[in-house]
Amino acid sequence: MKPILLLFFCAGVLSFDNLKSLANTEPCTDANCKIEDGCRCSSANGPTPISDYPQLIMLTFDEAVREDLVNLQWSELFFDRTNPDGAPISGTFFVPHEFTDYSQVKALWARGFEIGVNSITKNNLAQYWQEANVSTLVAEFLGQREIIAKFAGIPIEDVKGARTPQLLIDGDNTFTAYHQSGILYDSSWPSRSDLMFFPYTLDYLSSQSCLSEASCPVSSFPGIWVLPIIDFIGNSSRECHSLYDCLMQGDTDFLTDWLVNSVENIRSVNKAPITLLIESSWFNFTNNSRDALIQFLDHMATLNDVFFVSQSQAIEYMKNPVKISDFHTTVYNRTNDCIPQTCQLSRDMGTWNQTYYMVSCEADCPQTYPWIYNPEGN
Ligand SMILES: *[C@@H]1O[C@H](CO)[C@@H](O)[C@H](O)[C@H]1NC(C)=O
Ligand SMILES: *[C@@H]1O[C@H](CO)[C@@H](O)[C@H](O)[C@H]1NC(C)=O
Ligand SMILES: *[C@@H]1O[C@H](CO)[C@@H](O)[C@H](O)[C@H]1NC(C)=O
Ligand SMILES: *[C@@H]1O[C@H](CO)[C@@H](O)[C@H](O)[C@H]1NC(C)=O
Ligand SMILES: *[C@@H]1O[C@H](CO)[C@@H](O)[C@H](O)[C@H]1NC(C)=O
Ligand SMILES: *[C@@H]1O[C@H](CO)[C@@H](O)[C@H](O)[C@H]1NC(C)=O
Repeated sequence: MKPILLLFFCAGVLSFDNLKSLANTEPCTDANCKIEDGCRCSSANGPTPISDYPQLIMLTFDEAVREDLVNLQWSELFFDRTNPDGAPISGTFFVPHEFTDYSQVKALWARGFEIGVNSITKNNLAQYWQEANVSTLVAEFLGQREIIAKFAGIPIEDVKGARTPQLLIDGDNTFTAYHQSGILYDSSWPSRSDLMFFPYTLDYLSSQSCLSEASCPVSSFPGIWVLPIIDFIGNSSRECHSLYDCLMQGDTDFLTDWLVNSVENIRSVNKAPITLLIESSWFNFTNNSRDALIQFLDHMATLNDVFFVSQSQAIEYMKNPVKISDFHTTVYNRTNDCIPQTCQLSRDMGTWNQTYYMVSCEADCPQTYPWIYNPEGN
């Protein structure tokens, strides 16, 4: 008995992660994990009967926020749409740094969209993310939170969530880095299409399977939420996580039916919140994708239980699942006071300097292009 007590005692003074990996050996149950304590087990069980509850859908983006994407793609598709309660729809932009125009980030935030982080470098080598240590990941995630706060002028506490590049979760390292970076939820973890998981916390070991290229956390991270990306079934019946990766092709009605049926597969079973990953490559390289998405959104707008919300609002809903009649889209009173200015900045590439034109809401331009380990651009 004594050694065990001693172990618990020591664990209390160790770091958060060491402490909680002990609790993690217990299975998650309704008795030890209560929503009043901010805990939810990973599962496909949600509020019932499903006919009483809303179907939440979250439009999510993880590309650099640039004026051309806002003007050519996002504004016509996603601005000026409303939910059944009459409030504007929302969604979440997980913003990577390179090429981002921070005046556009501020404008999206002011419109009621949520801003989260992707990373500073969005390094395209999978190995970089698979092998990154905690300090590199903190430099990526916290650094990008700080860049967004400073150059878009958004309160840092509003930047709550993260999506890792290429959905490559690096096991405990990623969640330890989230904890150290003040990030409260993850949006990088696909769930198989037949396991329609609701958002949950990582107080206890997740029962979600992990992508083969990624590694999933084994320690406990109390109160940190995971918003599973429920797969769609794409071309050749393959599981897929983003609209583009599904590689579906056909005329507008065919693609619209595929989107509507993919939502219906979840809406008719348990109404787990649905995360849609929307990339410009889908619009650029798949014929009829744009018209199909418009028809899909128009169709969803005729259903009185479907709400397009931010990822943070889906977490709030999980903490207190209310019926359709009591559900209200969160509306913010945010003003866009950005006075955009274009800063010509250079980034040291070792043997040469690359020039960037960064649009910022800060009065003073930084000295160099902000980058990992130097988010202020000093
Ligand atoms: C983390 O990885 C970086 C890059 O590989 C390396 O420079 C650094 O020393 C590592 N830090 C720790 C604490 O291991
Ligand atoms: C699947 O992809 C192939 C090759 O691109 C294409 O010819 C076919 O139409 C696609 N099938 C569906 C159902 O989208
Ligand atoms: C798609 O087109 C938009 C608008 O021209 C462009 O900004 C974006 O970079 C393109 N995306 C890809 C992945 O080619
Ligand atoms: C897309 O549409 C263009 C123009 O109609 C056509 O030439 C092209 O073959 C189509 N691409 C695919 C993959 O269907
Ligand atoms: C919204 O904010 C502005 C200034 O920040 C304030 O003047 C206005 O009263 C607020 N409106 C509401 C409805 O809270
Ligand atoms: C890059 O810029 C830095 C700082 O402005 C300067 O000191 C350095 O000489 C430049 N390097 C090259 C290769 O031009």
